[in-house]
Amino acid sequence: MIKLSDRLQKIADFIEPGESIADIGTDHGFLPIALWERGRSPHVILSDINAGPLEKARANINKYFPEKQFDLRIGSGIQTLKPAEVEAIVIAGMGGLLIAEILGDDLPKSKSYRKLILQPRNAQDKLRLWLFENGFAIEEEVLVREGKYLCEIIMAVPAGFGRNAGPEEIRPDRCIRSDDIDFEISPILFAKKDPLLVEFIENKIRIERKVHAAIKAKAVRDKTEMLRKSEERMELLQKMRKRSGINECKDE
Ligand SMILES: C[S@@+](CC[C@H](N)C(=O)[O-])C[C@H]1O[C@@H](n2cnc3c(N)ncnc32)[C@H](O)[C@@H]1O
Repeated sequence: MIKLSDRLQKIADFIEPGESIADIGTDHGFLPIALWERGRSPHVILSDINAGPLEKARANINKYFPEKQFDLRIGSGIQTLKPAEVEAIVIAGMGGLLIAEILGDDLPKSKSYRKLILQPRNAQDKLRLWLFENGFAIEEEVLVREGKYLCEIIMAVPAGFGRNAGPEEIRPDRCIRSDDIDFEISPILFAKKDPLLVEFIENKIRIERKVHAAIKAKAVRDKTEMLRKSEERMELLQKMRKRSGINECKDE
């Protein structure tokens, strides 16, 4: 059986048995091949904008399942799919802004899929904000370690269609207290007490300390405002670090 990395396994865990999927930006194709192999997804689509990555996927198919005809497609984002053609879309390992661009390219089509599993490599806050502003609800999130990085996996649905649909729907807007930070560190990670949340926040604190030291060392005259902003952010992160064992959304 194909062994998935912890990151790809966490993504695979979001797929319910019987759900069809399209893996957009599939590259090596391991995720859809493994989902099919495990009998979890009866129909998988492997899609990529570049021929090179699709060749990698084809080589993996030939190595593991040469008899099976997989559905490989070339093109940008969801342009290779018909509306509602699959139940779940996976877009993993790309920048958050590119993921938003792919989904925004055809919003009604993006909303025709019941579930989006997204793993942005950066600009995660911008992607969450984009989802919120464009009528998606974030249902679930999880952190997963990959080498020295902690990856954020987001499961979103068209708003009003999720299992938490209605007044109890968990979405960023419901939990907003301090503007931007809730898009950067998801309230869902607090609510579910994600085991990697403390480390995730501590990483951000470490980075902010470096930013603060770099501003101090800078040979510019007026750095007061920059230092103030950095200190404010540090204070906020420290508060979040303290609260990271508490179910904030429910208790407030
Ligand atoms: C870093 S790989 C990620 C591979 C895999 N999804 C994973 O998470 O391990 C990113 C892939 O996205 C593809 N890609 C980039 N922009 C794309 C777009 N607009 N539409 C489809 N695929 C795209 C690239 O060709 C590349 O194969």
